[in-house]
Amino acid sequence: MRQITLHQLQVFEAAARHCSFTRAAEELFLTQPTISMQVKQLSQAIGMPLFEQVGKRLYLTEAGRELLDTCRDIFERLSLLDMTVANMKGLKQGQLRLAVITTAKYVVPRLLGPFCQRYPGIDVALKVTNHERVLERMATNADDLYIVSQPPENLDVQAYPFVENPLVVLAPRNHPLVHEKNIPLERIAEEPFIMREPGSGTRRVVQELFDRHGVSIKVKLEIGSNEAIKQAIAGGLGISVLSLHSLALEGTSGQLSILDVEHFPIARHWYVVYPTGKHLSIVARTFFDYLEQEGRQIAALQTFIGSEPAAQEPEPEPVPVP
Ligand code: PGA
Repeated sequence: MRQITLHQLQVFEAAARHCSFTRAAEELFLTQPTISMQVKQLSQAIGMPLFEQVGKRLYLTEAGRELLDTCRDIFERLSLLDMTVANMKGLKQGQLRLAVITTAKYVVPRLLGPFCQRYPGIDVALKVTNHERVLERMATNADDLYIVSQPPENLDVQAYPFVENPLVVLAPRNHPLVHEKNIPLERIAEEPFIMREPGSGTRRVVQELFDRHGVSIKVKLEIGSNEAIKQAIAGGLGISVLSLHSLALEGTSGQLSILDVEHFPIARHWYVVYPTGKHLSIVARTFFDYLEQEGRQIAALQTFIGSEPAAQEPEPEPVPVP
């Protein structure tokens, strides 16, 4: 094992991640025979095969999976070392890996702007996906920090709520319900509804609210993108429930209006989360502290709420969620 080189581990990690020598070769700008050779030498040093081919697909063997976990530990430690050394030199530098739910994409880039200006040595890799996918990434320790509306219940995490994320009912500007007050849920249920895809946190909360009140909505269309839903509403395909932040750029002066519906807005928060016990890099800790101290203020500044301010609600306590 002592003959193993870091280069071989990098090659193996890429091949294992892609389950393909060809794609690993493309990513690392190497040839496919070089990848095969490096993996072969590595597997000889380990004394067991690392991959097996079934049909046309490549799978990791048990030894391969163990080695992949070890590789990830080693690379994580090396990147922490890199950041620690930079910090000792008085620099904050390194990579910040963030995974955020789709509604947070309206705010997180704005938060990153001043942060990156303050710390020019920090590079950011931002993954935007739905609630379920973010939780999957958290379970495999794929990123440094996560932003979700609902901290996971089956994972021990540290969670800090840093800004409100109210969900509102949106309709086209010329919709007959636009000037009505306190519209009953039953009336909303008569309208064609545009729903987010399964796995979306927005979808789950909307469904829960209507189920709780024994009202069933008419889902006309399922769309996996907040922006596409806004277009569909504007196009007259139906109404929907989205984060108020999704109106950040156009506000309510555009083609969409917020309906005044009973039980709305649904009060939610964005939490910045990481698994308890995870050793936060200096860069991740710096961003966490920044969100804690300044996140709320910066996010509030950029939220255009039109003439209908979102209902304020009491701040929840920071929670370590069991
Ligand atoms: P979503 O996230 O993109 O999964 O709907 C929003 C949320 O959980 O509030």
